[in-house]
Amino acid sequence: MEIEDVRSDLTEVLYTADQIEERIRQIAAEIDHDYAGLDLLLIGVLNGAVMTMADLSRALRSHCEMQWMAISSYGSGTASSGVVRILKDLNIDITDRHVLLVEDIIDTGLTLSYLVQNLKNRHPASVEVMAAFRKAEAIKRPVDVRYVGFDIPSDFVVGYGLDYDGRYRNLNGLGILAPAVYS
Ligand code: IMP
Repeated sequence: MEIEDVRSDLTEVLYTADQIEERIRQIAAEIDHDYAGLDLLLIGVLNGAVMTMADLSRALRSHCEMQWMAISSYGSGTASSGVVRILKDLNIDITDRHVLLVEDIIDTGLTLSYLVQNLKNRHPASVEVMAAFRKAEAIKRPVDVRYVGFDIPSDFVVGYGLDYDGRYRNLNGLGILAPAVYS
């Protein structure tokens, strides 16, 4: 789905598909460099990180393994509940593995803090985080994110894997959802 298809639902277009693709490529090059010679395990967080994972993994020039976790998210609302529940866990042992957690967006950072701690408890060799988007609020929090696609305003955004009530995930760019759509 293109930005023009839902332009009237958005108050602002933040990034086009081309801009996101270019930034993901840059990050992939950094990851190739940083993990050279290491056995990289990407862990994607369903459902939001599907697009980021697909694009990032294909932009890498080296091998990587991909695994997925599913956690509870906002449901149909637009505010973080702070309650994180694992709906689908990993089906492999990550002891001594180099883990890169692939996230769609960091808002309050609550989800990320929980996940990073949960993964660290499994004794991997390392855990780092890549997020396609990070909201302004999250920067104030002590969450260590090694790779960030774009720092964005704190508004509710949709597209590139991010939904509102199950819709807009397949929008290829990122935009701010008009409050009229969800109020
Ligand atoms: P956090 O725990 O507040 O950092 O929220 C993280 C999760 O909430 C993300 O992985 C998304 O699934 C969802 N989320 C946060 N902000 C947005 C948004 O603006 N649009 C759609 N989903 C969002």
